[in-house]
Amino acid sequence: MITTFQQHISLKQQEITSEDSAALLKLMSGITLAAKMIEAKIRRASLSGLVGEDGGVNSHGESQQKLDIYANDALIHCLGMHDAAAVLISEENNEPIISDKATETSKYAIFFDPLDGSSNIDVNVNVGTIFSIYRIDQSVEEIVGRLTLHPGICQVAAGYVLYGPSTVLAYTSGNGVHLFTLDPTIGSFVLSGENLKMPNRGRYYSCNEANIDEFPAHYEAYLSRLRTSDPGESYSSRYVGSLVADFHRTLLRGGIFLYPPTTAHPEGKLRLLYEASPLAFIAEQAGGMAINGEQSILRIQPTSVHQRTPLVIGGCSEVELFLVHASQPA
Ligand code: AHG
Ligand code: MN
Ligand code: MN
Repeated sequence: MITTFQQHISLKQQEITSEDSAALLKLMSGITLAAKMIEAKIRRASLSGLVGEDGGVNSHGESQQKLDIYANDALIHCLGMHDAAAVLISEENNEPIISDKATETSKYAIFFDPLDGSSNIDVNVNVGTIFSIYRIDQSVEEIVGRLTLHPGICQVAAGYVLYGPSTVLAYTSGNGVHLFTLDPTIGSFVLSGENLKMPNRGRYYSCNEANIDEFPAHYEAYLSRLRTSDPGESYSSRYVGSLVADFHRTLLRGGIFLYPPTTAHPEGKLRLLYEASPLAFIAEQAGGMAINGEQSILRIQPTSVHQRTPLVIGGCSEVELFLVHASQPA
């Protein structure tokens, strides 16, 4: 028989505090409802005029796709239906959003990238949604003043939805990584993988090699080392250009994904709180590693909600070899 996502959280609730469990049920029902709305729109985007640019730009000066806006609105609406969420922080909004139903008992902050891989929407390539949930101990007034940020090790839950040939939700609340596949015949996310473990060593490396001349030298030396691995152990390259898709492949097949510092993004392109950190939580729960090139992503103390970071994430074998290269004198 099947286990739906809501049943799974309820069954696992003895593994997390009952307060978090009750709130997670509400928050995750908001995220899964929004994911179903987004999935339905993506499937018919080119038939409903939802492809292409919206004409606006987000807080990073990046042009917004129509589906970026739709996905963002869907998540804000669905997460705002419950009193569990106090504040929402979206890639698409410069400032944190106080949730519609926030009360003094609302104790959770949700960070999200509503649509990851936007540049791939119009060419029918996988895109995703990334989310990260923290418990906070600030009143709404204090939040309005200044939201206190915590390192990724404080996440209560995190995960992503990958919209592809099937729609898959990957989720962790600190007790392993579990996969749920959307069954369109019943409209539910159904358990399709439990306690996933990332292979210690994989066969793929994943980065945008068009930027390789801009990478710090040890990144290039590392990639060259992977390319010249012994026969039978050599690596192949895969790069979708949607972080969620490149990470999901790394989670299942092992290997490594890298977004190094570049000339355009000397601090890295990916955002710490709603891209790198939730995926780092998943990676570590699956036995992998995630660093910013030097230190664990989950131990970085954030200083601003939209701050960027370099990201090196994957199997222990690959990340530990990277750290050997990073420690060698230039
Ligand atoms: P988003 O669509 O949310 O802005 O994220 C895009 C990110 C990420 O999905 C991907 O790994 C990266 O941009 C690709 O960047 P390049 O095109 O520079 O390789
Ligand atoms: Mn993104
Ligand atoms: Mn995005």
